[in-house]
Amino acid sequence: MDYKSQIDTTKLPLHVAVIMDGNGRWAKQQGEQRIFGHHNGVSSVRETAEAAAELGIKYLTLYAFSTENWNRPKDEVDALMELLVHTIGNETPTLIKNGIKLDCIGNIDSLPKSCIRELNEAKEKTAHCDRMTMVLALSYSSKWEIIQAVKSIAEEVKSGAIDVDAIDEKLISSKLCTAKMPDPELMIRTSGEHRISNFLLWQLSYAEFYFTEKLWPDFRREDFYEAIYKYQNRERRFGKTSEQLAQ
Ligand code: IPE
Ligand code: IPE
Ligand code: MG
Repeated sequence: MDYKSQIDTTKLPLHVAVIMDGNGRWAKQQGEQRIFGHHNGVSSVRETAEAAAELGIKYLTLYAFSTENWNRPKDEVDALMELLVHTIGNETPTLIKNGIKLDCIGNIDSLPKSCIRELNEAKEKTAHCDRMTMVLALSYSSKWEIIQAVKSIAEEVKSGAIDVDAIDEKLISSKLCTAKMPDPELMIRTSGEHRISNFLLWQLSYAEFYFTEKLWPDFRREDFYEAIYKYQNRERRFGKTSEQLAQ
């Protein structure tokens, strides 16, 4: 089925979030080391970003490295960081060509210096791009992010800058890494795992979840279009009834 032609471009999600999972298993299937899978996941990132930008999606957030991923073997962590440094540098011209601005969320200070430098450089070089923002979640976990937000609000209450009664949804959202973005309407996870793995817990509270068995290095444009098409054919009720929505 040609999903792309069936997509209603007037009803696109503004923000799509992706848990890019299955690189290690993909490599294992080829009899290779896990890092081979990470390397091959780069073309999936490129295709997904280009497809999303071409469709007219405004924000694409990619879960690239979680707080928990620091617990992997050192060799893998080092190789992932190196891959990140090289990929960001190499892909910046492609981002610019596609009008994609780069941003990142997470505990960026915990990344190696070379990574931080590449990220900052790529962010600067793509700052003028306004077709879509691609957000890399790096050394990110939702619980970490929520703890930062709670600490910041607690400080403001302590100093008397705000009253406890002023704490509402809007204030909490404004303290998260995603403060400037709309919440994702759609979350895609590859590799057949049906869990959220500490990703955007607050922001995904009303998102549609789409799971595919495809391993991330096999994920292509068509798979992205399929996810968007399936999303558009769901009824988002937000607690209401179907009858209310029909009115
Ligand atoms: C996702 O693939 C990439 C990262 C988490 C960095 P995995 O490395 O988790 O691959 P699997 O899930 O073990 O196959
Ligand atoms: C989630 O994948 C994190 C990223 C894709 C970066 P993991 O492979 O780390 O998650 P679990 O361990 O299966 O929950
Ligand atoms: Mg995994």
